[in-house]
Amino acid sequence: MTLDAKLLDDMKARRAKLLAGGGEDKIAARHKKGLWTARERLAALFQEHTFQESGAHAQHSCRFFGMEKKDLPGDGVVVGTGYVDGRLVAAFSQDFTVAAGSLGKIHAKKIVSVMQSAAKLGAPLVAFKDSGGARIQEGVDALSGYGEVFFHNVLLSGVVPQIAVICGPCAGGAAYSPALMDFIIMTKSNAFMFITGPEVIKSVTGKAVTMDEVGSADMHSSVSGNVHFVADDEAHAVDLVRRLLSYLPANNAEDPPHRPSSTIALVEDPRLNEIIPSESSRPMDVRGVIGCLVDDGEFLEVHANFAGNIIVGFARIEGMVVGVIANQSTVRAGTLDIDSSDKGARFIRTCNAFNIPLVTLVDIPGFMPGIEQERGGIIRHGAKMLFAYASATVPKITVIMRKAYGGSYLAMCSQEMGADVVFAWPTAEIAVMGAEGAINVLYSKELKAAEDPKAKAMELAAAYRAEFASPYVSARNGYITDVIDPATTRSLVALSLHKLLSKRELRPPKKHGNIPL
Ligand code: HXC
Repeated sequence: MTLDAKLLDDMKARRAKLLAGGGEDKIAARHKKGLWTARERLAALFQEHTFQESGAHAQHSCRFFGMEKKDLPGDGVVVGTGYVDGRLVAAFSQDFTVAAGSLGKIHAKKIVSVMQSAAKLGAPLVAFKDSGGARIQEGVDALSGYGEVFFHNVLLSGVVPQIAVICGPCAGGAAYSPALMDFIIMTKSNAFMFITGPEVIKSVTGKAVTMDEVGSADMHSSVSGNVHFVADDEAHAVDLVRRLLSYLPANNAEDPPHRPSSTIALVEDPRLNEIIPSESSRPMDVRGVIGCLVDDGEFLEVHANFAGNIIVGFARIEGMVVGVIANQSTVRAGTLDIDSSDKGARFIRTCNAFNIPLVTLVDIPGFMPGIEQERGGIIRHGAKMLFAYASATVPKITVIMRKAYGGSYLAMCSQEMGADVVFAWPTAEIAVMGAEGAINVLYSKELKAAEDPKAKAMELAAAYRAEFASPYVSARNGYITDVIDPATTRSLVALSLHKLLSKRELRPPKKHGNIPL
């Protein structure tokens, strides 16, 4: 007995119809705009022939507003698993050609099913978002669907990495699903994301705003801080997903993909000594330092356009994956303010959740002074840095390069915040505050009484600096591991990392800490 050819033909015809999504015309219209379809996005991400779709034959179940006559292939979303650079990844991709990728009951059920697979298999989740939001005809069923997606976003949080790629509309409450994930990548054009768009803003507040002002990738990456990476186009977005995955473990029970080199050597890099300005008041571009410390100068900067006074991102040092957190003194003197505290703390927690060691590069004069900072809650925002570092149990290595003053010294992972190793360069200045501030407090009477207050201030500041603008007081009192030649930093950090890879640190059991939000 052989298989009836008609059955096969019927199967193939059905599949061809499903693959065409909303139809050839809609696909052609997208291509004309230079956009990819939901399936093309998945094809670009996964290794050939490895993507296995589930629920391709799914259909909506709505019986209102004439929907009973509507055919929505796959219910507007493609879900499944496949391999990316040899590693298992779960994904879904909303199909804008089918009812604008709007989310109804079955659409949500498919997304939830692939999220559950990601959790079961311990595989990262990648979500291509391109949707008109809740499917209006499905009413509360659509809202309930969003609720289930949000619930599973939270369930997966800290278990498997979740990466959202916004490559179309993502409006209203729908924007909370990417917001609950670990990373958001957004394409420069065609994508927008907001809770209330220009029309609603105009009707409620009377203020006219443009779509770019409220929802563009540029705005979200530089002002709101919602977006971690801006992609030039969809191909770039997929490339960013791949690069991100290359630093992340598949799940929280695994180590990140370390590739420690087999040789351990002390190699000096004189460039590091040349980068340091001769005067501590001159800014130093910390990107140059990072470039010398990491393998091949390769650094995947996260949130590159947001809160530039702190720089965070992923790299490898002698093959070992690290999260780098560095003060950037060329922007706002490298101070911690509300945004940079949020950015830093969030990154530290992401690394800790996924077992990625932290390398902290310190050059900080303090928290940002200002009425708007105090009124905006710099106390609770800055506290996030302390909380994130103190609760991180991954290997923590701190390099104090230059200034490390006051509370900000502690907020950049000092020994007391649980740093396993603290190196200081001879240029380190570890003190309660800068010389000028300190002498004004300590010697206000003497300065007022002085014949030449300016000269007296300079003399006292010089004495203060001689005592405190060096790392040796801290070294003497056991607050740092060692004072090192900057040229040896990469080798010494690599050696410490190597030893710390087996670090295990247990804390008292609790439901969860109460990080200030
Ligand atoms: C059902 C929808 C839809 C939706 C679009 N369509 N959005 N169907 N529910 N939310 C349908 C259109 O009727 C049309 O069907 C097809 O999809 C393509 O839509 P167009 O408008 O022709 O496309 P375009 O001009 O590119 O505009 C895309 C759009 C626009 C900007 C997304 O469609 C739009 O503004 N849609 C409404 C967005 C919205 O208000 N969503 C609800 C948000 S509230 P045909 O049959 O003609 O092809 C929300 C709450 C979530 O999401 C709460 C979660 C907690």
